[in-house]
Amino acid sequence: MTICSIGPGQIESVREMFPHSVYWQARTGLADVFGLQDDNGVLQAVMAAEVRGLATRLLWLWVAPDYRRQGLGRMMLLTLMANGHDAGTNRLELDFPVDDNLEMFSLMVGLNVPFRQIGSLYATTLGQVDLSRLEGHVRQAVGFPLGQADPLQRKEVGQVLRSQQMPAHPELVAQCYDPDLSRLFFRDGALRAMLLIEAGAHLCVSYLWCDKEWSQILPGLLVCCLRAARERYPADTELYTGTIAESASRLSDAFLPNAKKTLVFQYRIPIG
Ligand SMILES: CC(C)(COP(=O)(O)OP(=O)(O)OC[C@H]1O[C@@H](n2cnc3c(N)ncnc32)[C@H](O)[C@@H]1OP(=O)(O)O)[C@@H](O)C(=O)NCCC(=O)NCCS
Repeated sequence: MTICSIGPGQIESVREMFPHSVYWQARTGLADVFGLQDDNGVLQAVMAAEVRGLATRLLWLWVAPDYRRQGLGRMMLLTLMANGHDAGTNRLELDFPVDDNLEMFSLMVGLNVPFRQIGSLYATTLGQVDLSRLEGHVRQAVGFPLGQADPLQRKEVGQVLRSQQMPAHPELVAQCYDPDLSRLFFRDGALRAMLLIEAGAHLCVSYLWCDKEWSQILPGLLVCCLRAARERYPADTELYTGTIAESASRLSDAFLPNAKKTLVFQYRIPIG
């Protein structure tokens, strides 16, 4: 799954996902619309929001029924909060009544932020998005270090890399990737996700991949990596993500708002 932005010109295709008023706001460019695309480019989640003045306003959030309860709604809302904070707004407002919407209400409660009720609407202040809010993702994403993979598992890693047109060296583990920070995630005997971190003077997210049904653990993989890096590397070590792994750079954008853009790679963040 990748996060994409949907411009006013592309709005017709998602018209039926919105209430009429949100559709018109999106069409006239008053609302920003974001989507989550699966590997076939099909939108499986859509969010409309307004980031203006001092407030970030969530106008509508929709996740395709088959993709619900996998953490996508929460991930999009947290992304919006991180971006809203970055854009200088200090308040998140939910611009629709949620009291009679169990799913949305539960999602909000699960965020553990204090919402103020104003009539039928809810608002909260926006601070730096705390990575610990991704705790659920992290729990699912722990996986095990690449260095502990047995020969069969390494072979599977090689196959996935080749299928993604990445060079797959037989001595992959020893040669370039940090065997502890790089993580593999197996479920039901199959490789579901992996994060490959190249170690050198800097750390670099050189590959981030997951089976499309496991996309919800991608942010967790990054957070796990940061945590493990904090324990093992000096605090001024920087972690780069960017051009090599596009999905990693999009996630960094959303979840590592402190990361600085650089010329060579798109983002870097001190791990301390
Ligand atoms: C509301 C909606 C966007 C949530 O999306 P989602 O991707 O399924 O939500 P998440 O998987 O991120 O859920 C996060 C938390 O919300 C709560 N939650 C979500 N759906 C729930 C449900 N049906 N019952 C109880 N709790 C629910 C849970 O606490 C969940 O955490 P958990 O799975 O770890 O227990 C989705 O249900 C939806 O599109 N509904 C229809 C459109 C709509 O009504 N939008 C709201 C108005 S904008």
